[in-house]
Amino acid sequence: MDTIHICGGYRLDGEIPIHGAKNSALPLLVATLLAADVSELTNCPRLSDVTASLAILRHLGCVVTQAEDRVTVDAAHLRCGHVPDELMRAMRSSIVFLGAIVARCGEAVLTYPGGCELGPRPIDLHLSALRRLGVQVTEEHGRICCRATRLRGAEIALPFPSVGATENVLLAACTAEGTTVLRHAAREPEIADLCGFLNACGARIRGGDSGTVVIEGVPRLHGACHRVMADRIEAATYLAAAAVTGGRLTLTHCPALPVSPVFAPLEQAGCVITATGDSLHIQAPSRLCGMGMVRTLPYPGFPTDAAAPLLAAACVAQGTTVFVETIFENRYRYVDELTRMGARIRVDGRVAVVEGVDALNGADVACTDLRGGAALLVAALAARGDTRITELHHLDRGYEDPVGCLQRAGASVCRR
Ligand code: EPZ
Repeated sequence: MDTIHICGGYRLDGEIPIHGAKNSALPLLVATLLAADVSELTNCPRLSDVTASLAILRHLGCVVTQAEDRVTVDAAHLRCGHVPDELMRAMRSSIVFLGAIVARCGEAVLTYPGGCELGPRPIDLHLSALRRLGVQVTEEHGRICCRATRLRGAEIALPFPSVGATENVLLAACTAEGTTVLRHAAREPEIADLCGFLNACGARIRGGDSGTVVIEGVPRLHGACHRVMADRIEAATYLAAAAVTGGRLTLTHCPALPVSPVFAPLEQAGCVITATGDSLHIQAPSRLCGMGMVRTLPYPGFPTDAAAPLLAAACVAQGTTVFVETIFENRYRYVDELTRMGARIRVDGRVAVVEGVDALNGADVACTDLRGGAALLVAALAARGDTRITELHHLDRGYEDPVGCLQRAGASVCRR
């Protein structure tokens, strides 16, 4: 079993290149299914969730090649529209295959996606939106069967701006007959990235970043090349890592705007963040101040995925920080691990009150989920002594080579 060893107390100082975004790459890979053609993604991160998506594409009959950050998908000959349970369970976002497969094949049979680590994650919004587009959905024995002889554009209003449901509607509506208007859609930057790729494939989508998306159906799509946007959550994690060590970092290949919702709490803690071109710079004070109240919200609010690494930084701030999680029910499982390192955190439902302590102590800890794992990395960088982190498969889902990135910025870290 691999372990990450960190000897805390070293100031980060250097440059970290930000990889392509997991949460953009996954729906983009699904979107390559829509055209009976070849598509290419560059800046695609090397992550286990990407490997799981490629396995599903191969199972469906696509010819997939991956070299460095370049993935080519030839979806000319699909074999079937069924995704077996073991592939569905590998990751939550496999549910986004539903809209694309039904659009391309007229039938999709999937099982419920895996993972329940953040509390219940229903798919009712996905299914009701697809029904509005003319998909017949039946659920039996844990299988979801979707059929549509013809998809038809529709007016759809989501009760909550779900990222995955928005992606499923986009994928299903591109080649539907007529126009779809999706209101209260998610506005996360990854949605605009998906719309950019789909439009490059010949789709006609407007308003991908506005909350009201208009999709005029076209008869078919063709393949296209696309560069995956930078990972704003990876960027937020390294900003927190710089902050917690009193360090100074430059993040390259990282436009500021998508990351900007995390700036306010870091600035309140005393960090100075500046942007030049596609680089972000952070200079942290020798001791952070409390960050006040951090409430997670859909974009452009503070992202739920960045709360865990910032919470870890708040553990050694002078003062109190209150985190309020409004997106997921159970996102504080990693807090027990931080407590083992000496953090003072009280959790009550969706609220975590963090009272900063003078120092954390190294300990043996285990990742409980992807972003919880990122929180442990951040905490360990500031802790006195050695920390050993296990259950790294969670981190491998969403961070490409975090050990190499942190080493190059001056951290004492290795994986063995
Ligand atoms: C995406 O998940 C991301 N995953 C998540 O990142 C991210 O935390 C989340 O969006 C919010 O930004 C990917 O992009 C692969 P949602 P998704 O549908 O699409 C409820 C990470 O760490 N809901 O916007 O699953 C749901 O239970 C991951 O990288 C329903 O009730 O998020 C949740 O409370 C974790 N019914 C809320 O909406 C539905 O049908 C937000 O979910 C769908 C969602």
